[in-house]
Amino acid sequence: MTEQRKGRITKIIGNMVAAQTDAHIIQNEVAFILHGKERLKSEVIRIRGNLAEMQVFENTSGLKIGEEVEFTGELLSVDLGPGLLGQIFDGLQNPLPDLAKECGFFLKRGVYLEALSSESKWEFTPLVKSGARLRAGDRIGFVPEKIFKHYIMAPFHLAGHLELTRISPKGSYSLKEPIAQLKDEEGRFHDVFLKQTWPIKIPIQAYAEKLKPQEPLVTKMRLIDSLFPVARGGTYCVPGPFGAGKTVLQQLTSRHAEVDIVIIAACGERAGEAVETLKTFPEIIDPRTGKPLSERTVIMCNTSSMPVAARESGVYTAVAIGEYYRQMGLNVLLLADSTSRWAQAMREMSGRLEEIPGEEAFPAYLESRIASFYERAGIVRLRDASIGSLTIGGTVSPAGGNFDEPVTQATLKVVGAFHGLSRERSDARRYPAIDPLISWSKYPGFIEEKQEDRGHQILRKSYEAAQMMKVIGEEGTSLPDYIDYLK
Ligand SMILES: Nc1ncnc2c1ncn2[C@@H]1O[C@H](COP(=O)(O)OP(=O)(O)OP(=O)(O)O)[C@@H](O)[C@H]1O
Ligand SMILES: [Mg+2]
Repeated sequence: MTEQRKGRITKIIGNMVAAQTDAHIIQNEVAFILHGKERLKSEVIRIRGNLAEMQVFENTSGLKIGEEVEFTGELLSVDLGPGLLGQIFDGLQNPLPDLAKECGFFLKRGVYLEALSSESKWEFTPLVKSGARLRAGDRIGFVPEKIFKHYIMAPFHLAGHLELTRISPKGSYSLKEPIAQLKDEEGRFHDVFLKQTWPIKIPIQAYAEKLKPQEPLVTKMRLIDSLFPVARGGTYCVPGPFGAGKTVLQQLTSRHAEVDIVIIAACGERAGEAVETLKTFPEIIDPRTGKPLSERTVIMCNTSSMPVAARESGVYTAVAIGEYYRQMGLNVLLLADSTSRWAQAMREMSGRLEEIPGEEAFPAYLESRIASFYERAGIVRLRDASIGSLTIGGTVSPAGGNFDEPVTQATLKVVGAFHGLSRERSDARRYPAIDPLISWSKYPGFIEEKQEDRGHQILRKSYEAAQMMKVIGEEGTSLPDYIDYLK
């Protein structure tokens, strides 16, 4: 690293730090703030002339004006490779159990560990021969990971046609050893490792074609599958007032939904809840495989007590991991709980940047951020004709259960199914508290459209009858109305 890639702090507002620098700073690059022996990770989110403004992923108390900042020139990235399954990460992809081993249960700031152990060995089997013509995302070989074949693919960032100039024979390799070499169209050579890194905010698009989500995804939740189906590669949201059962509904979906891999992005939820999930998860036996459920899940955990900026990165890291497994032809389900907390983190940062606020002080780009997050879902045909999908389900927790607030509205514009929870139903302990009168889905389900409409009609009639009964009592209700009510 050259001397010029450095700067000095000129302003600190909460977790927003500005630094004066002569270097050519890249938007969204990672910078480290040097505070004594600590190196605090941050991301450049705005550049004005030679002033770089960064969001720091750690508590910033104690930082001083004039302290040094080191710019890395690399975008905020995620490590993709074998060993992700079964892991519990924080928003910056630090494995939490290892972090606890390293520094006890009270997390220290400025400690960053390897997301994937570079020491452990994986049994690699090549699938192509030297001289093969490849493109980014094509399969080079595989290693076994839990119950899956984890395909090792040509790095996604390489452009154009690639020639395989060398490939290692079948054997055991660590993540540090190059297992192949590719030559690009310009004659440059690139080593291929079992692991690759990818900038989290850019979608992985090394596939042939994005298809329309049409095939239903079985969640095993009767109300959802019958009346408000979710499609493989589709998107859905679960808004509901506090304590209406959003988290429980997502946990049930994570266990029973018919997908290969589940990624859980716990974003700004209570720490106690997260601890419970982490404790109970390894004990749960997967109804599909008979093995622990944690063998096919990845958990990104950012509780409300952790720094807000890391929430944003946690959500994107989770999506990038989802896209990575989709590239292997697997069906992936990403559950984000809750996207409102993520939006609040955005609002906090936007306030510190003194941007002009939009509705309810959320930034003006709230809608486009939410849209671009859900747009990363999808069912795709890969270049070898296999199909992979990434389905995204997010919960929204609007204050007071008011669905007219900006986050719910922005989410509704982009998702394909809406499962609105109602306070009335959850108070009556009718779980899942999905309100059939306000919920909808654009995806085709198992049930014929006509019958589905009939179902909705009956529900509406029954609701009307119930409302009427409140006024005129049971005696005054006609028999057909009463039957509708009972339905
Ligand atoms: N399907 C269910 N079956 C039984 N009990 C449920 C169910 N769903 C929710 N509950 C009950 O409701 C409580 C609150 O649920 P949950 O934590 O999922 O709410 P939430 O909507 O995520 O709340 P918050 O907005 O505070 O995160 C649970 O602790 C549980 O007692
Ligand atoms: Mg919850």
